[in-house]
Amino acid sequence: MKLTVKAGVPASEKGELIALGLFEGSGVAGEATAVDKALGGLIADVLKSGDFTGKLNQTLVFPTGGKVGAKRVLLVGLGKSDDLTIDRIRQAAGKTLTTVRDMGVKTFATTVYGTDVDGLDAGDAAKAFAEGLELATYQYNKYRTLDKDKQKSVDAVTLLVADKAMVELVDEAADYAHAIASSVAFTKDLVSAPANDMTPSDMANAAKKMASEVGLTCRVLTEKDMEKLGMGALLGVAQGSINDEPPRFIVLEYMPNGSKQAPLVFVGKGITFDTGGISIKPSEGMEKMKYDMAGGAAVIGALRAIARLQLPLNVVGLVPATENMPSGDAIHPGDVLTSMSGITIEVINTDAEGRLILADALTYAERYKPRGVVDLATLTGACVIALGSNAIGLMTNDDEFGERVRQAGERASERAWKLPLWDEYHEQIKSDIADLKNTGGRPGGTITAGAFLSKFAKNYKWTHLDIAGTAWEEKGKPYTPKGASGIGVRLLVELAEDYANADEAAEAPTPLKAAAAKPAAAKAPAKTATATKSAAVKAPAAKAAPAKTTKSAPAAKAAPAKAPAKAPAKKR
Ligand code: BES
Ligand code: MN
Ligand code: ZN
Repeated sequence: MKLTVKAGVPASEKGELIALGLFEGSGVAGEATAVDKALGGLIADVLKSGDFTGKLNQTLVFPTGGKVGAKRVLLVGLGKSDDLTIDRIRQAAGKTLTTVRDMGVKTFATTVYGTDVDGLDAGDAAKAFAEGLELATYQYNKYRTLDKDKQKSVDAVTLLVADKAMVELVDEAADYAHAIASSVAFTKDLVSAPANDMTPSDMANAAKKMASEVGLTCRVLTEKDMEKLGMGALLGVAQGSINDEPPRFIVLEYMPNGSKQAPLVFVGKGITFDTGGISIKPSEGMEKMKYDMAGGAAVIGALRAIARLQLPLNVVGLVPATENMPSGDAIHPGDVLTSMSGITIEVINTDAEGRLILADALTYAERYKPRGVVDLATLTGACVIALGSNAIGLMTNDDEFGERVRQAGERASERAWKLPLWDEYHEQIKSDIADLKNTGGRPGGTITAGAFLSKFAKNYKWTHLDIAGTAWEEKGKPYTPKGASGIGVRLLVELAEDYANADEAAEAPTPLKAAAAKPAAAKAPAKTATATKSAAVKAPAAKAAPAKTTKSAPAAKAAPAKAPAKAPAKKR
């Protein structure tokens, strides 16, 4: 889908359809006014009749009879203007796209919702709008061969803005959004692929190919390397398919700051199919277990986005990838595995395999002396029961770091909710014959899994995200179609941006000196350290940190006291 930004007014825009966002209870306003006038007050009539009220994501389409440039007008509800948020813009954009697509219309023009609303940054609004449009287009059509002509898609969208300055701002925001949304689609492709088309080797090859395209370093460890490293927990899970589909350990490194900066490390569970092993799962619904590599796929997608955006910080992605299969070679319940850390694990249930492969990945992460580690995993069915499909389960060994991760999730609308890792829960995973056992029974199943991981997340700040309930969208939401949700990609990108902004704020001169040297410094756009590379996607104009986030954003905290929000300039 091609996005073009241009200056113009909706009433005179020629084409199949023009989309307009309308607030609930605000009457005909803004760009709709001229269209309404040309249509002889039709929009006002529709509002009066109550057929369309402007409720969030409500839509109404009608023909214009040639009274304006476009053949049809689509009204999209934005909800009450005071309630507008970045995520509501994303939603309304997604709803616009899917509505037009389902009508079979191939091209349309639209205004950019929310860019002129008090309290929202125009660049953030434009980015969210473009993100919502592109995220909503996702379809996994690789295996559909019948009725190809019935598959609908929008080819081109024109974003209509007021003037030249806005063209530039929205253009940059759209580029930025594309780096992210295309990475989410990349992740969804990995997750949607069936297990016979997404083996550990396939996953590693996809990571390698992507890495070479965006300029990342990718190394893939084989079972031989794992043996040398003593990754007994990962190899234990891989044992059932070791002769058929060997495991791979994917290492992605994005190090623009070289060895002088400790990296953020992202770890993702990469079980390309989870049968449960000898503790086999019931067959009903087992086909869904192809998405047990969603954490790993999110990590790979996030590294893609971060590299494409050329964020000025070091980030590493680690993905232990294996199947979990029963066979004559498979581990038995009761087997004891020796992990890379030396900790021994009694395997009570071979279906609690995610924590085993993550244990060795978390130990491997130590070699980076990370500034923080986030792992993502479709780890427990208990998390689906506890939080459903609207929240990621979050556990951490450092409350401040955990909160920073949670806030990144808030900004991305990939929301997380913290669960406790109190000592009492650790009792449940003590083994009679080894250091640990891999299950703690059903009570608190999400937490005992987190407690297990915490034993391996030593020597660094760590946050665990259980995405079992959120990695697969059952119903479909305005900008998240049914199927793989790509959860985690946008959260991780937000977190990386936050760290990059904080680094920059920490390096920035004190406000006093800055003011003396350069009075206009506050308006200068933030420069990205690596922005010299030609492939860089330029960030939209910098903006002052909004007052709302100043209180809690670590970037703002790192800034010198009383800095008038100039130091922590945002990179989008
Ligand atoms: N991959 C599953 C968890 C899962 C369940 C993800 C549903 C997505 C949807 C994980 O490997 C698993 O099987 N966990 C077990 C652990 C139990 C045996 C302690 C579970 O949750 O039942
Ligand atoms: Mn399992
Ligand atoms: Zn699993």
